[in-house]
Amino acid sequence: MHEAWGDLINEISGCTKCRLCENRTNVVPGEGNPRAKIMFIGEGPGRDEDMQGRPFVGASGQLLDRMIHAIGMERTEVYIANIVKCRPPMNRNPEPDEAAACMPYLRNQFKLISPQIIVLLGKVACRYVLQDESPISRLRGNWILRKGVWFMPTYHPSALLRAPEKKREAWEDFKMIKAKLMEVSHRGEV
Ligand code: URA
Ligand code: SF4
Repeated sequence: MHEAWGDLINEISGCTKCRLCENRTNVVPGEGNPRAKIMFIGEGPGRDEDMQGRPFVGASGQLLDRMIHAIGMERTEVYIANIVKCRPPMNRNPEPDEAAACMPYLRNQFKLISPQIIVLLGKVACRYVLQDESPISRLRGNWILRKGVWFMPTYHPSALLRAPEKKREAWEDFKMIKAKLMEVSHRGEV
């Protein structure tokens, strides 16, 4: 597992499979515990993430940290990654061909980490992981079980910063996530 994991991170770090490699400062493969029970998936690196080579370190990252604390976990215990590993110019959404080029890395991260719960932050993550185009306001708050993994769509933290009135629903989602974490732990699957 460790060799395969290191090989995967190295491969991502040197990747030039799509045009997003052209303007990046750093690749942002992901961060956290490669044996995490729970993963959080965003869209793609922003300016701060591109500068530091780490996911969710800007304003939305600070909110994500608070959400992770709210479920009784630390950033080092979970794994945080994105649909695309290089920053889209002007923070635009990833193009479908860019997401298609990058998704095999995320699928391999899912395979090697083998989490029980995957939290999808926002519509872009849902679109490319679940192949579901529904609005996030409809997807959120509902568990989806696929191949033994529990997926929970919820709002992207940057959407919550723009529209704080959505925070109440987001906290509802995180309460469900906390309960599910306890449920899967109690089953001895820790
Ligand atoms: N937004 C994202 O979707 N991902 C990050 O890593 C940072 C901001
Ligand atoms: Fe490679 Fe993904 Fe970066 Fe595109 S976004 S260059 S596929 S790592």
